Amino acid sequence: MKRIGILTAGGDTPALNATIHGAVTRANQLKIEVFGFIKGFNCLFNPRVPHVHLNPLYQAIPELDPTKGGTLLGSSRDYVDPDKKDELDLIEVRLKKLGIEGLICIGGDGTLNGMQPLAERLPVVLAPKTIDNDLGLNYPSEPDEWERTKDPSEKSGHRYKRTASNTVFDLEQIVNYVTPGYATAILVTVKSIERVRTTAESHRRIAIVEVMGRHSGYIALGTAFGQPDIILVPERAPDLDLLTERIGTLYELQKNVVIVCGEGIVDENGAELGAQIKSTDPAGNVALSGAAEALRDKLLERFSDKYFQLQRRSQTAREAIFTRKVGHTQRGGRPILFDRFYAALLGAETVDMLLEGRNNAVAILRYSSVKGFHVEAYDANRFRDRWGHIHARTVHPALYDPLGMKPSKLGCDYLLPIFTDAIGNDDAEYMRQTMFSPGNLAQPYHSINTDIQKRIRYLGE
Ligand code: F6P
Repeated sequence: MKRIGILTAGGDTPALNATIHGAVTRANQLKIEVFGFIKGFNCLFNPRVPHVHLNPLYQAIPELDPTKGGTLLGSSRDYVDPDKKDELDLIEVRLKKLGIEGLICIGGDGTLNGMQPLAERLPVVLAPKTIDNDLGLNYPSEPDEWERTKDPSEKSGHRYKRTASNTVFDLEQIVNYVTPGYATAILVTVKSIERVRTTAESHRRIAIVEVMGRHSGYIALGTAFGQPDIILVPERAPDLDLLTERIGTLYELQKNVVIVCGEGIVDENGAELGAQIKSTDPAGNVALSGAAEALRDKLLERFSDKYFQLQRRSQTAREAIFTRKVGHTQRGGRPILFDRFYAALLGAETVDMLLEGRNNAVAILRYSSVKGFHVEAYDANRFRDRWGHIHARTVHPALYDPLGMKPSKLGCDYLLPIFTDAIGNDDAEYMRQTMFSPGNLAQPYHSINTDIQKRIRYLGE
């Protein structure tokens, strides 16, 4: 192989440039040219195929900085429709004209779906990323546990449901233990919880902090490092009586409560609490909004103004119970060491996979107590259920304690290998050196997009 393409698709994460850097570093060693495609799959629909040569003379361009969040290539939520054969024909011709012999897609479950039709035209492999940590399998046979029934109210015409599992959960069986981006997102949410806590303590308030993750509760689970009092994950509907009792006990004891909720939390009927504003992105992912507010409404039904007055507080319940969304800060900024290191390894692995002749395959991270974290290649089809559908990974019941409303013992065992040495010395030093740099006051922000724009080339030029 002489030339390959690389693109970043779906929502960004802090570790995308690190993955690209890993791939480019490996390609440099093997004397392979890497063309970066601008704005994910969107670029392939453009007859001019805007792209950047990422390693002229087999050296990474200086803009490719693995310690910088986001993606220098840009990303979009556009996906390739397998039914649009004409469009696929055009994409194939464009990539051939550019001399692209293999493609690396950096993405999550939506990207994995999107790359399937392309894999029938040229070798395509995936390097995983998502802050949601939902690209993976709790164990290899998990896709076989889905059943499907007809449901005209669903966009796909079908409803999918999990059957009960007999599998003994084992951390070493997890396919793609953790996705690059997750660790940095947890750093941000943990910091938010720490900061919300002290203000809730001072003002005797109940804080509900909403974190991202769609229908997967991994981000909520990881916030345990910030010691919230209660963690609610989308996989398990909260028992409102138990929740009320726990909040009351904690409030009486410590005069403040911090609750974390995943944005996809559901009620006892499985309906999303925060789905009032509901839209679907092109990959079929539902955008969720308002979970914390909806939970607050439920608590306001149970904790009256009188309750807070009896606690010798002058404020109303509405003032005492407040919500905060951590929001997109979870997705942005400098990636911490864990993310940078494993993102780079996974990126490098995808280049080797293309060279080994793999197609429609995913570079995954495995964990074993003997070998620690290591990368492997995994067949993309093994992520699919029998109807070809890829399901977002959810928190396995063994990892969450619904009575304690926190990670179970096994949940803690899951988190520890990721986070024990996740922060590098340079991460702390970087903050010390740059946060209050005088230059920040004097100079405007310089966007990577301005530099990359100067490097963009087009097909036929
Ligand atoms: O999938 C990543 C993610 O950050 C989710 O956690 C969140 O629901 C969604 O993307 C937000 O998407 P957008 O940036 O398009 O609003």
